[in-house]
Amino acid sequence: MIDLIKRLPKAELHLHIEGSLEPELMFTLAKRNNIQIPYKTIDDVKAAYNFTNLQSFLDIYYAGANVLITKQDFYDLTHEYILKCVEDNVIHTEIFFDPQSHTSRGISFETVITGIKEALADAKEKYGITSCIIMCFLRHLSQEDALETLNQAKAFKSDILGVGLDSSELGNPPSKFIEVFKKAKEQGFKLVAHAGEEADVSYIYEALDLLEIQRIDHGVQSIKSAKLMQRLKQEQIPLTVCPNSNIELKVFENYKEHNIKELLDYGLNVSVNSDDPAYFKGYINQNFINLCENLPLTKEDIITLVKNSFNSSFINDELKKEYILKVEKAI
Ligand code: ADE
Ligand code: ZN
Repeated sequence: MIDLIKRLPKAELHLHIEGSLEPELMFTLAKRNNIQIPYKTIDDVKAAYNFTNLQSFLDIYYAGANVLITKQDFYDLTHEYILKCVEDNVIHTEIFFDPQSHTSRGISFETVITGIKEALADAKEKYGITSCIIMCFLRHLSQEDALETLNQAKAFKSDILGVGLDSSELGNPPSKFIEVFKKAKEQGFKLVAHAGEEADVSYIYEALDLLEIQRIDHGVQSIKSAKLMQRLKQEQIPLTVCPNSNIELKVFENYKEHNIKELLDYGLNVSVNSDDPAYFKGYINQNFINLCENLPLTKEDIITLVKNSFNSSFINDELKKEYILKVEKAI
């Protein structure tokens, strides 16, 4: 099974580029930019990555992102993630970034987007990896702040395919962002949102019905509503599930309790993704391996999860066909 996981070409649809900041690069950038970080050694960092819920992670994740200052920093960050893609056979990736966590520190939108974009262009040229960029609004901030961010993105419209919604879910429902998602839709952006990671199914309904999103990030709480499960199956709305993240953030107690097999068996369109791999102990293959070691996933399940990742991606139909053919060949 592990051999199959490694051999299959994959698409990743839920990856925060700031969440791929490995402790080693954090130290390098802290030194390069003369930024203080609250850790002396890599072991200190690893000891701090002991989360109790989403918020306990976010506090550390935003502090880590403070070492990212220059365009070169964002290039290096993205380049390192791409090397992991090469290792794990990810041939297409749709990358989230959080502009507000950088612009709020005085880093320009242009610095962030051009660093990421140039690394992705090199990834295509060097390794043939295709990608797109999705800009996430931080839901703990106001809609006005999100509108201002959407405004800043105008100058880089051709570099950004979609918008998403992330950060502290509880108390920040999708309904807080109706206007900014409406505007983003009018401007032609694809729409996704984190929903049902920690919060109840009402957040998933709001994301679908009020924001009109095309993909749900996480969505594992769907299982609590039979009616929602039926709808997700009927409409084949993609759920980008992140197993390691769910375990590290205590959404489920352990891998044996994870519901991805139930979602899959019910007929939902779920895929496996790494979310913030530098913080959650592993990249996409490790997520698959952890599932296989703890749940009765079959070879066919793995293949379905991988095919779902391509079919739920924002690539065109022709490229989808080409990539699915690559999967068939690898099988
Ligand atoms: N930002 C980075 N990772 C996140 C997650 N798992 N949920 C919400 N916001 C995030
Ligand atoms: Zn996420």
